[in-house]
This record gives sequence, C-alpha cells and structure tokens, in this order.
Amino acid sequence: MNNFKNAVTMGLFLVCTSALASDAKTKAMPCTACHGVDGNSIINPEWPNLAGQHPSYVTTQLQAFKSGARKNSNMNAMAAALSDQDMADIAGYFAGQAPKIATLDAAQIAAGATLYRGGNKVTGVPACMACHGPNGVGNLAAGYPALRGQHAKYTTLQLQAYRAGTRTTDPKEIMRTIAARMTDAEIDHISHFVEALH
Ligand code: HEC
Ligand code: HEC
Repeated sequence: MNNFKNAVTMGLFLVCTSALASDAKTKAMPCTACHGVDGNSIINPEWPNLAGQHPSYVTTQLQAFKSGARKNSNMNAMAAALSDQDMADIAGYFAGQAPKIATLDAAQIAAGATLYRGGNKVTGVPACMACHGPNGVGNLAAGYPALRGQHAKYTTLQLQAYRAGTRTTDPKEIMRTIAARMTDAEIDHISHFVEALH
C-alpha cells in the first residue's frame, strides 16, 4: 500500500515538474531561434550563448532591455512582451543547459590568459578572474555573469560598448571603468581566451 502511495506521489511529482519544464521550454522557443535550442547560439556569433548563465543575471538584462536601459533592436522588442514570470521561467530554462566551450590553440589564448588572471598593472586593468572566477563561471551571489564559452565576437562587442559608454547596465560603472583602460588588442585577446575558458 505504501509502495503504491509512493509510486502515485512520485508519478504526480514527475508529471508536475515535467509540465513546468516544458512550459518554460515553450516560452523559450522564440528565443532559441537566435540563442540556440540548447542555449548555444550557432548562426551568428553576435548572438550570445545563454546556456548555463546565472538566472538572476539573465532576468536583470531582460528587465534592462524591456525598460530600454540596454539598447538592442532585436532584444528591446523581444523583452517588451515578457512578464516577470516569463523572464524567470525562460532564465531557468537556459540556466539548465550546458555551455559549449570552444577549442582554440594555445597561441590564440596565451595573451588573454595573462590579462584574465593578472590584469594590467601599468594601466590599472584588474584581473577579470577576481570577479568572473578562475574558470569564468562568474559569481551568482554577487551578480557577476558567467563568461566561459561565450562567442569572442559577442564579448568584443560588449567590451567596446562599455568602453564607448553605450552599455550602461553595470552597477557602479564597474565594466565601463575597466573597459576604458583596455586597448583594442587586449579586448581581442581576452575575448578569444574567454571563448575557450572552462
Ligand atoms: C533575432 C535574434 C534574437 C532573438 C529572437 C532573441 N535574442 Fe536575445 N539577444 C540577441 C542579440 C543580438 C543580443 C546581444 C544584444 C547586445 O549586443 O546588447 C541578445 C542578448 C540577449 C541577452 C543578454 C545576454 C548577456 O549575456 O548579457 C539575453 C538575456 C537575451 N538576449 C535573452 C533573450 C530571450 C529571453 C529571448 C526570447 C524572449 C531572446 N533573447 C530572443 C538576439 C536575439
Ligand atoms: C569588480 C568585478 C569585475 C571585474 C574585475 C570584471 N568584471 Fe566584467 N562584469 C562585472 C559585472 C558586475 C558585470 C555585469 C554588468 C552589467 O550588468 O552590465 C560584468 C559584465 C561583463 C561582461 C558582459 C557579459 C555579457 O554576457 O554581456 C563582459 C564581457 C565582462 N564583464 C568582461 C570582463 C573582463 C574581460 C574583465 C577583465 C579585464 C572583467 N570583466 C572584470 C564585474 C567585473
């Protein structure tokens, strides 16, 4: 009898959780056209991977796109239609996907490794690792996004946007201050390093 009850309870539990999961997947469908079904975008490297990104970071960015605080012609329209619940569900869906990490040769990532781990003491660029973590997984509690496996092209565009002051979502201007001290070569090196980081 107990076994039967347990089986029924377990069955209901599975039905409920899979219904919730498929609801989130349905909501994420329009997003997967650009961001990939498994959160790894494949068509255009300007479209970021969302796989394994912290849900709180994703919802914060979606709110910023919705309010217009972060500007992008694709994303402002997409986010405008989302409720807070939609954002939470979709963020949960992408957070549960595994990020794909690029394989690049040692020569392509060497220069970025030094900067990522040690910064540039001459120009005052801090080590990215201090906030984004040695493996690029970021810091959930502090709101530092994961960077590992991200397309080099997307990372370059974001660092350029912070440097130009056109992306203003960073609290206390953290990333604007850092990017302002970076050269084009440093942005290029770090973007490739991060794409292969794990
Ligand atoms: C037509 C392509 C397209 C579609 C569809 C799309 N996105 Fe995007 N998304 C982009 C682009 C391009 C960017 C980069 C914007 C930028 O450069 O600031 C982006 C950025 C983002 C970011 C910021 C990621 C980061 O690392 O900061 C999030 C979160 C996001 N999209 C979520 C979504 C969600 C959720 C949906 C579905 C409701 C969606 N996107 C649909 C193209 C798209
Ligand atoms: C003091 C903490 C801190 C340090 C050090 C730091 N970052 Fe960040 N970074 C952040 C925060 C916070 C955000 C989210 C800002 C936002 O919401 O726009 C961020 C966002 C980013 C993004 C945007 C990610 C995305 O998905 O759009 C990139 C790229 C980035 N950082 C690269 C770097 C690099 C490269 C370095 C080292 C040169 C670095 N960061 C050092 C805190 C930091």
